[in-house]
This record gives sequence, C-alpha cells and structure tokens, in this order.
Amino acid sequence: MSTERQEADTVAFTVAGRIAWVRFNRPEKRNCMSPKLNRQMLRVLEQLEYRDDVGVLVLTGEGTAWSAGMDLKEYFRETEAQGLGAVRQSQREAYAWWRKLRWYQKPTIAMVNGWCFGGGYGPLFACDLAFAAQEAQFGLSEINWGILPGGGATKIARELLSYRRAMYHALTGETIDGRTAADWGLVNEALPRDELQERVTAVAKTLLEKNPVALKAAKDAIRRVGEMTYDNAEDYLIRAQEAANFFDNEGRKEGIHQFIDQKSYKPGLAAYDKSRQPPGKR
Ligand code: COA
Repeated sequence: MSTERQEADTVAFTVAGRIAWVRFNRPEKRNCMSPKLNRQMLRVLEQLEYRDDVGVLVLTGEGTAWSAGMDLKEYFRETEAQGLGAVRQSQREAYAWWRKLRWYQKPTIAMVNGWCFGGGYGPLFACDLAFAAQEAQFGLSEINWGILPGGGATKIARELLSYRRAMYHALTGETIDGRTAADWGLVNEALPRDELQERVTAVAKTLLEKNPVALKAAKDAIRRVGEMTYDNAEDYLIRAQEAANFFDNEGRKEGIHQFIDQKSYKPGLAAYDKSRQPPGKR
C-alpha cells in the first residue's frame, strides 16, 4: 500500500462511550505526517469537535509508531521540489491541525504507543495530557538528518523540559524511552504497553464526569497563563471565569448546591453529579 494510501484513509477513528479514538493510520510508514495525512487529520478533528457524543479525544497510532514525525519524502523533499509556495502550503496544513488540537473544544489525550519523533512533538504538545508506553521511543531526530527541530519542536522542548535537557535532546538526537519521557515531563505517565489503553480510558472517564465548560476554560487557562505576569494572569482568569459563566450559568451553582445543601459529594475528592442537573443545563 505505502504511498498509494488514499487521503481519507490516512487517519482512522472510532467513537465509543463518548471517547473519540483517533489514529494516525499509516503504519507502513510509521505514521509519519504527509500533506495528505495533515489535511485529513484537520478534517477529522473538525468533524468530531462539536459532536454531542464526543467528550474526550484520544490521539494514538496504528502499528508500532505513534508518529515518526514529518514525512521526509512527501512533506520535505517533494514539496521543496515544487518551490517555496508548496513548502509554505504544506507547513500551513500541518500547523493548522496542531493549532486546532491545542485549542480543541474537548480535552485531548496523546496515547503514545510507539515511535515519536521530531514533528510528532507538535501534536504531542497539542494534546492536553499524554500517556506513553514504557517501550515508546522519543527523539528530536532532526539533528541526525541535518536540520534544526522546527515546526514548533524546539519551542515544545523548552516548554516541557528543563533548559539542559532540552539542549541535550536537541543537540544529540538521542532517543529516550517512555519512562524517561515521564521523568522529564514530556508525558504525564509511562505504563507497560498492555496497560496503556486501560489507563487512558480511566483518565478519559474521569474527564467525562467533569463540567465540560469548566474543562475547556481550565485547559485554555493552563496554556495561556504560562506566558503572563501574575497580575495579567489574575485578570485573565477573572475574565475567563465570567465568560465560562455565560456558557454555563447553572453547573457551578449545582456543584455548590450538592456540596453545601445536599452534602452528597466533596469537591475536594470528586466531581458533582451532572445527571442531577436539569437537561440542557449540563
Ligand atoms: N519520513 C518518511 N518515511 C518514513 C519516515 C519519515 N519520517 N519514517 C519512516 N518512514 C518510512 C521508511 O522510509 C520505510 O518506508 P519503505 O517501507 O517504503 O522503505 C517505512 O516507513 C518503515 O520504516 P523503517 O525505517 O523500515 O521502520 P523501523 O521500524 O525499522 O524504524 C524509525 C522506525 C521510526 C526508527 C525509522 O523509520 C526512522 O528513523 N524514521 C525517521 C524518523 C525521523 O527522523 N523523523 C523526523 C522527521 S521531522
């Protein structure tokens, strides 16, 4: 099959139990990102974003790879042969879906089942949470074939890793496994491969119990405040909460009611029961 794979077939997905399982679907090419895959991924993300039967999105890969980064042949060599316009076009297509994912309406989880290289750090960082197989391998391999880690990868290394680790990672091109990735903060946790899906499902279910308006506000806030002064963050968070109240006037009141009046749960330990809120106000 290889490069003959149709564009629509480069990404696969299923929805079950309000979890959308989206898969890079070029296992024969280690799920590297070609212009076709990038275009299709944006379509799939747009299609799933506002579906009522989707509360959490998980991004994973078919086969042995999560993603081997950008497609050196189709994304780099073939577009460069067509000139600067084609290069810029293919960059826009990749960056568009990573940006869509960074600010996605629903919480997102990267389930890193295998290889994760270079450009793969874009969607890795775009996902709100990340869980990896202990056996997975991560690397900024760009230096090994002669470019700097572009497409956001350098920025992501600085965002997620310490200065010394980011520098070492970018300059040596050495891989780290899932355990080290968790130790370095590149992912939340590393698990044996055969326990990975179970853990991700459990985390997704935890998220599904939360107020969805609050989830979107909180995930955006975590991304935004990183580059703000304390005072700017304080102000932003006031505005963000007021904006969230506009979308969800009842949820937080129900949350307070179930704790203070009904004493049916403890917010320090779990989420309030959304099913007891009148339909249409959940
Ligand atoms: N770009 C283009 N093709 C790629 C690719 C990439 N990033 N990664 C893998 N492939 C292709 C290989 O060319 C090969 O194609 P072929 O079957 O037509 O020969 C196929 O995928 C399988 O790759 P292979 O190297 O045989 O698999 P492997 O399991 O032995 O090794 C990797 C897996 C990921 C270690 C190896 O493929 C690799 O180093 N890929 C490049 C990673 C990289 O540097 N990415 C950064 C891009 S920014």
